[in-house]
Amino acid sequence: MTGNVKIVINGDTYELPVVVGTEGETAIDIGRLRQMTGLIALDPGYANTGSCKSSITFMDGEKGILRYRGIPVEELAEHSSFIETSYLLINGVLPTKEQLNQVSMLFNDHSLVHEDMQIFYQNFPRGSHPMGILSSMVNALRSFYPELQTIEEEINITVTRLLSKVRTMAAMSYKISRGHKVVYPRPDLSYCANFLNMMFDTPVRPYDIDEDLVKALNTFWILHADHEQNCSTSAVRLVGSGRVNLYAAISAGIAALWGPLHGGANQAVIEMLSEIQEDGGNYQRAIARAKDKKDPFRLMGFGHRVYKAYDPRAKIIKKMCDQVLLKLKIADPLLDLAKELEEAALKDDYFIEYNLYPNVDFYSGIVLRAMGIPTNMFTVMFAIGRLPGWIAQWKESIDDPDWKLSRPRQIYTGSGKKRYTPMDER
Ligand code: ACO
Repeated sequence: MTGNVKIVINGDTYELPVVVGTEGETAIDIGRLRQMTGLIALDPGYANTGSCKSSITFMDGEKGILRYRGIPVEELAEHSSFIETSYLLINGVLPTKEQLNQVSMLFNDHSLVHEDMQIFYQNFPRGSHPMGILSSMVNALRSFYPELQTIEEEINITVTRLLSKVRTMAAMSYKISRGHKVVYPRPDLSYCANFLNMMFDTPVRPYDIDEDLVKALNTFWILHADHEQNCSTSAVRLVGSGRVNLYAAISAGIAALWGPLHGGANQAVIEMLSEIQEDGGNYQRAIARAKDKKDPFRLMGFGHRVYKAYDPRAKIIKKMCDQVLLKLKIADPLLDLAKELEEAALKDDYFIEYNLYPNVDFYSGIVLRAMGIPTNMFTVMFAIGRLPGWIAQWKESIDDPDWKLSRPRQIYTGSGKKRYTPMDER
């Protein structure tokens, strides 16, 4: 469809332009709707609203397609590294060998975290959720690393710092939470190997880096690297539209990702599977509960706002589960349970009717568990992976010539004007 669409309001006809994307997705541009007609559009949850034009990620929920800068995620998962994919997302093209080496060197230069930040970590109450800690600490980075002289320098260095330091900060929070000595990043290790080493190396048991696990972690993070205008990315763009610094915008993204309906689902899936296991493995009961409209329970790791087919990321992670568990010689009963639950749900009329398939979070917790990542760190792992996407989307939004402060409107449904009632009359 091209050209304009006509809308008729009380007999008057208005023409609104149609916008078409490179893959044929079509939108009505309602930017002047209120000016022309006095009406606004109402779309709770933005289910039918495009908030921007973007050239970063393409997904087709009906066909189960996901591409970063045009490249299918399956190809990146097989051939790329997380750092290369991050470069692709942020800069729009794959790096040359020299560019990739330069990025790796920069990451090494910026991988350390200000020593004073350790004091903050130590003062969070025991049992604090790592996502709350990460969100606060990322916001605090601005205080430790003040604004740089030029906008270009500020953006380049801030982006490098974030990508490199968030990984260090995540591992550091784990070590401190366990009362262990913090392990520093090593310049001789790759991004993913470094993370595993910072997590699991101890003075009494040096960590033995396993290249298969490094590859699995690269794949895991590539699969999480971007997903166009999801809840946390929209939070980054929305908060960023007020022209806050990048640390603050990313901190908002981390907070948004935390929720169980979004990135927190990977933790929720393992908790759900463990409960089913404790219930004697009765997954049919969980399916029945998920279908019961009077019960708020949902099958975690199932369903997606955009995918109405199998999530392409879930397909890769499911395969990865088998490979990682085999390599580590782990027999995880939760993987068997997850597979049985998936099989039963996919045959169930309710799940068929609602197009509910496993999403990226359904199998990811099982891989992370096998790697030794504690359950409450799962969403932090997602956040590290999503960082390049958030940065790329933020960068695109601030460079956008059509940029505007994000400020939706509303339909007010509260009380009409009334007078203030003094305390003794209430
Ligand atoms: N189990 C049972 N029913 C479900 C599920 C589920 N997992 N997901 C959706 N439904 C049903 C809803 O009950 C609703 O039914 P109704 O229309 O009869 O009331 C219908 O499907 C539509 O659900 P909505 O929440 O309106 O659809 P939305 O597009 O907003 O849902 C969401 C997307 C939030 C992800 C949902 O599928 C869900 O809650 N899934 C479980 C949590 C989860 O796995 N989240 C991770 C998503 S991936 C990510 O963000 C990284």
